[in-house]
Amino acid sequence: MVLFSKLALAAASIAAVSAAPWEPSVKLSTHRARAVSDNLTIESFHPTTIYETYETGITTPLKKRGDNSGTIEQSAASFVEEKLQLSNGEYNIRSSANTETGGSVWIQQLVNGIPVANAVANVALNTDKDVVAFGANFQGTSGSRRAANIAPPTPNISKEQAITSAEEKLHGKHNDKAPTLEYYVNQDGSLALTYVVEVQTEDGNHWYEAFVDASSAQVVATNDFVAGASYLAVDPRVQDVTKGYKTFTSPADTTASPNGWHKVGSTVSTDTSGNNVISYKGSTTGTTKQSAAGQVFNYRYDTTVGPTSGANVDAARVNTFFLSNKIHDINYRYGFTEKTFNFQNDNFGKGGAGNDRIKISVQDGSGVNNANFATPADGSSGLMRMYIWNRSTPNRDGDLSNDVIAHEQTHGTTNRMTGGGTGRCLQTTESGGLVRALLPEDVPSDEL
Ligand SMILES: *[C@@H]1O[C@H](CO)[C@@H](O)[C@H](O)[C@H]1NC(C)=O
Ligand SMILES: *[C@@H]1O[C@H](CO)[C@@H](O)[C@H](O)[C@H]1NC(C)=O
Ligand SMILES: *[C@@H]1O[C@H](CO)[C@@H](O)[C@H](O)[C@H]1NC(C)=O
Repeated sequence: MVLFSKLALAAASIAAVSAAPWEPSVKLSTHRARAVSDNLTIESFHPTTIYETYETGITTPLKKRGDNSGTIEQSAASFVEEKLQLSNGEYNIRSSANTETGGSVWIQQLVNGIPVANAVANVALNTDKDVVAFGANFQGTSGSRRAANIAPPTPNISKEQAITSAEEKLHGKHNDKAPTLEYYVNQDGSLALTYVVEVQTEDGNHWYEAFVDASSAQVVATNDFVAGASYLAVDPRVQDVTKGYKTFTSPADTTASPNGWHKVGSTVSTDTSGNNVISYKGSTTGTTKQSAAGQVFNYRYDTTVGPTSGANVDAARVNTFFLSNKIHDINYRYGFTEKTFNFQNDNFGKGGAGNDRIKISVQDGSGVNNANFATPADGSSGLMRMYIWNRSTPNRDGDLSNDVIAHEQTHGTTNRMTGGGTGRCLQTTESGGLVRALLPEDVPSDEL
């Protein structure tokens, strides 16, 4: 279901729900950007929602008329018809559930007899069939609540064209679910007529429900039935935060990290800790929590202020967690696995010693203008200490410099892959050169 923002909670009645433009401040609760591929990010939109609760319950019009013997669906229908001033053909009861405490009814808006995908309502009733809570984001279709623009109910492209477009954009194959027509509320309050096309990717990581405009064939929105974590992080292919910063969704490689990045044993974390890496500041309890449910880590680094200001500490933990896991997964494909003494808490019985995920201490206080990596033997965690660089104003954070993170982690890889996981090799000058060889030219220090 839609998230209820503070603003939505404050909205007093449905009449307060205006059409576009939407308050930019409510964007986090109404928009969800999905990086479909390197080149395509699709933003799904959930119109602002009102949510009201009524302590002892509101008597439905049906009950007021002396008829309370029907189903909770009938009670809910009579309530929304009055509340939202709807007529019979403007909504559809989608589902309902009777519970010990009463029940809930889910309702979808209809326009021209066609369901509106992202315009829904839900009604919670107590055992007396009085309404105790109500949420809705129905769109105005008449009078003062008129939507800006409603596409006519007949499509201009064929189902086949819609399928082809969705497959091309989402790099997947349509499954056997027949496309249906639904309206989709756009950010500007207009209603687009869309084909709903299901597309699945070969790797199994995505099962999209795509809303394809029945006129332009553009994909206007997607839902993904495969829940995936997302991180706002520095693109692994660039040097630092100033060169490429975006959201990565479901980035874990299931060959290297079969349970994803957040599951250790039977515990699934919702912070920057997991099977391969824990990223923290100060002590290992100082991790960053998800910014929204579903392992969403959306903290934006602000380069105009110092590393410890605003969301920057969170951004540091998220970026190091993201990149270090990414490097774990890439190195795994090249042979740095459980058997060859990699860093993981759970080794899934595949060899090597566990309980040694990498500990990343971001903005570590023990130094400046550098970073380092300590590699004890397999079975003990590697420790990466990242320092703040103080030769500029504002100061810079190595945690947002992927070359520094990659450099440090490579010390761990080379040390573990030589000497049978002891961490004792590469100590003498010549063999130590192997670690140095990976120094990126542009890191402004000869001490890394
Ligand atoms: C993404 O864009 C680049 C350059 O604009 C292009 O070369 C590449 O083929 C595109 N990739 C996909 C998957 O469309
Ligand atoms: C289909 O095309 C006609 C003519 O260009 C246009 O008026 C109509 O709005 C289009 N239908 C949809 C669903 O966009
Ligand atoms: C950087 O930090 C070090 C260690 O705290 C300090 O000695 C030095 O003066 C600082 N440099 C600048 C330019 O602030």
